[in-house]
Amino acid sequence: MASSSTSPLGLTGRRVAVYPGSFDPVTCGHLDIIRRAAKQFDHLIVAVLNNTSKKPLFSVEERKELLADVTKDLPNVTIDSFRDLLVHFMKSREAHVIVRGIRSVTDFEYEIQMASTNHQLDDDIETIFMMTNPKYSYLSSSIVKEIAMFHGNVQDLVPPEVQAALIAKFSE
Ligand code: PNS
Repeated sequence: MASSSTSPLGLTGRRVAVYPGSFDPVTCGHLDIIRRAAKQFDHLIVAVLNNTSKKPLFSVEERKELLADVTKDLPNVTIDSFRDLLVHFMKSREAHVIVRGIRSVTDFEYEIQMASTNHQLDDDIETIFMMTNPKYSYLSSSIVKEIAMFHGNVQDLVPPEVQAALIAKFSE
């Protein structure tokens, strides 16, 4: 996996980015960020947090499978997971750029805190923010789960593979 590339001007750039998150489950908002970020970097690693203190709806393996399914047409995107600090995972993958989506001002404070913490832990790491498509600015995995739990229609909120997985999960 290349961690740098040469531009037509002969400049080198660090071109591996990590898009971390819980992705429980991946939504259309996440997928929009993945597609756009994949165009900006040579390689994008979507990294699922394996957080043992939270009780997710989907296991890490299920979340990774769904992400792999919905990104299968993106050759420079790989799916991975991590357990502890994001900066440790970044180092292990020789990546220096974190991508995060911002939906609204309410996201901003939390994101600034995370970006500053990560930079404090490793000053070779930069966080790049992408504005979420306004179409999905209200959308979150929690909202999707709540709608699906009560058998509401999530068709326009998640990719079809995720919709099917939610229906299966809530009819278990
Ligand atoms: O999708 P989320 O839940 O908003 O993602 C949050 C995530 C996974 C990016 C964040 O919680 C994280 O990076 N956790 C790993 C622990 C860590 O590195 N903490 C220090 C930075 S706040």
